[in-house]
Amino acid sequence: MNFEPNNLLITGGAGFIGTNFVRHWLARRGAGKVLVYDALTYAGNIDNLAGLDANSRYSFVRGDICDEAKVRELLTAHAIDTVVHFAAESHVDRSILGPDDFIRTNIVGTHALLKAAKSVWLDATLSRGHRFHHVSTDEVYGSLNPTDPPFHEATPYAPNSPYSASKAGSDHLVRAYHETYGLNTTITNCSNNYGPYHFPEKLIPLIIINILSGKPLPIYGDGLQVRDWLHVADHCVAIELAVTRGESGEVYNVGGNSETPNIEIVHRLCSLADEHFAADTILRATFPNSPGATGRPAAELITHVSDRPGHDRRYAIDYRKAQLALGYAPARDLAAGLRTTFDWYLTNTGWWQALLGRDYKAWVEKNYRR
Ligand code: NAD
Ligand code: DAU
Repeated sequence: MNFEPNNLLITGGAGFIGTNFVRHWLARRGAGKVLVYDALTYAGNIDNLAGLDANSRYSFVRGDICDEAKVRELLTAHAIDTVVHFAAESHVDRSILGPDDFIRTNIVGTHALLKAAKSVWLDATLSRGHRFHHVSTDEVYGSLNPTDPPFHEATPYAPNSPYSASKAGSDHLVRAYHETYGLNTTITNCSNNYGPYHFPEKLIPLIIINILSGKPLPIYGDGLQVRDWLHVADHCVAIELAVTRGESGEVYNVGGNSETPNIEIVHRLCSLADEHFAADTILRATFPNSPGATGRPAAELITHVSDRPGHDRRYAIDYRKAQLALGYAPARDLAAGLRTTFDWYLTNTGWWQALLGRDYKAWVEKNYRR
């Protein structure tokens, strides 16, 4: 059954995927408002939403998803009928160093949102057409062996990190609110996203920025861990389809058809850098510390470091359910996606240089193994 959303509350809309989704939704849908609700943690960046203030359909409120009363107030005041829930602590390495924030935001925060939605959409005298869409991850399914079939929607949950355990907990709560209270929910579990606005603690932006800065490219363990890379623009399409065409109570896996070992991703980014530096004198002058500035290969920066504890070996996604039920298929291939992503970081140096100047830099220097 198709659902026509009117006004959206987008949690975590100042983060990586949320930002891309806000821009996607406003460009694609001609009507209805978008209210971004974001705590602006270290990963949230109001600059990501620059330029949207001019759009009368967009507004922003800074706040915490754990604040149930505030969320209730916003759902009512803005006549919200659809929540698209991105807000989370999202970085596995941070969850290993300090799980508490992950339990608070990902589990307690998701539950506060569900309570607010139930209260406004179901318990009020006039119950409304509504949709609660929860953005989750393939990491809840654990780790695959090389010959295992890809994750599908009935794969048993086996999370291995505090991050994935907290996302698994939030998935179960969303399911329970559908089964017990009749809340209209959908969940997407997707693989590793990449693309514009990706925060530089994650593999792909970290590698691009370290190549440009002439810093080591840290490979955890042997680098043969496999991820199924999904361009964020394809993910945004999948979420739109799940919200508007998905069946209430259903879960859809979203993948990118791009299983690749980490070390290969890093080599491909190094080749892109070598190509750019060879062709571009301005680039050589702008990034004098990068090996390419003096004609050396970026791959000389590759450095194997100690492995991530509990590191999942392989993720792969079977997205046939989303394909059949929603008409989803990834449109971007990995080679083209990596090239445009590399170009985005070259064009938007101010964006990532501003982030590196924040507390983030000190945190990385203190906490990361090298
Ligand atoms: P991100 O870390 O880039 O952004 C998270 C956003 O949530 C930030 O803007 C942050 O300020 C906000 N936030 C954090 N805690 C909050 C709180 N308590 N209240 C309100 N806002 C809060 O994350 P992302 O990579 O964009 O991921 C978005 C969602 O997609 C997450 O739920 C994540 O688990 C899921 N996901 C991400 C990927 C990926 O590859 N990045 C893959 C699968 C699933
Ligand atoms: O699979 C979906 C998940 O993808 C999301 O749920 C998470 O929110 C998102 O952060 C991402 O998790 P990963 O742990 O897979 O992403 P990350 O970019 O941190 O790491 C990708 C792979 O690269 C992983 O195998 C660890 C490795 N890695 C990562 C970093 C940051 C390195 O080898 N070196 C690094 O410096």
